[in-house]
Amino acid sequence: MTGAVMSESGAAEPGTSWRADYSPLAPGYDRLVGILDASAGYHEQLRLSVRRMGLPARGAGLRLLDVGCGTGASTAALLQVLPEAEIVAVDASAPMLERARAKSWPRGVRFVHAGLDQLAGGSEGLPRAARGPFDGALAAFLLLGLPPGEVDAALHALCGLLRPGAPLAVHDCSVADSLGARARWLALSWGLVIPAGALVTGHTEVYRRLCRSVRGFDRVADFERRLSAAGFTDPRSQSVPGWTRDIVYTFLGRRPVSS
Ligand SMILES: C[S@@+](CC[C@H](N)C(=O)[O-])C[C@H]1O[C@@H](n2cnc3c(N)ncnc32)[C@H](O)[C@@H]1O
Repeated sequence: MTGAVMSESGAAEPGTSWRADYSPLAPGYDRLVGILDASAGYHEQLRLSVRRMGLPARGAGLRLLDVGCGTGASTAALLQVLPEAEIVAVDASAPMLERARAKSWPRGVRFVHAGLDQLAGGSEGLPRAARGPFDGALAAFLLLGLPPGEVDAALHALCGLLRPGAPLAVHDCSVADSLGARARWLALSWGLVIPAGALVTGHTEVYRRLCRSVRGFDRVADFERRLSAAGFTDPRSQSVPGWTRDIVYTFLGRRPVSS
């Protein structure tokens, strides 16, 4: 979202670029994740994307970035697959981050209130831990919420935050390639996401907007081209098993070893 991002208290969040404002969703976000987990394996799919990054077992000695960590579901996936890694989980929304911080985490997990633009710009106020380079990054359900014109800049920023050779996993939705996937997404949107979202937060517009964003998001090959254009090498994608196959994808790229 461009323009000022407002927190629940009405105060403008620091920085304004490349943000989708999820703050109104924060109170009900985990309940919605619970419903999506029971119906489609939300947490296991996140862990699958982490495993697909191909990082060394348990992640000892690695520093990983979870950008757009929300209430911590993607952070938990990184931790479960790579329990010995140091994890820096970053989110632009104070209310989402507050819910993540309130959970129980080991010492190697650190939460930082910042936007990707601030991370990429090496903003002075950032704690040292939030500075790159990272040995891997996960962006789960972050990019499809951004205005399409800002996705390239966000990917470029992510590439710059990685060590040479380090992987990025983008865990996100794409339905543009398949009529069946579009139909299943429509059913999922109106049968589950929008009504469940309305039930837990009282909002429908924000969920309708999210569901529309998925319908308007890139074809798989187009997103792989975006990864290349942003500087990533070896762009690849793989969908998840189960009934959200061809809807939820892991998109992978790697910062070139020499650039
Ligand atoms: C749909 S939530 C995904 C949360 C979590 N990754 C998950 O898998 O459940 C997207 C999150 O990205 C955050 N976000 C959006 N734009 C951002 C940006 N430019 N920098 C950092 N966080 C951002 C939002 O505040 C929100 O918490």
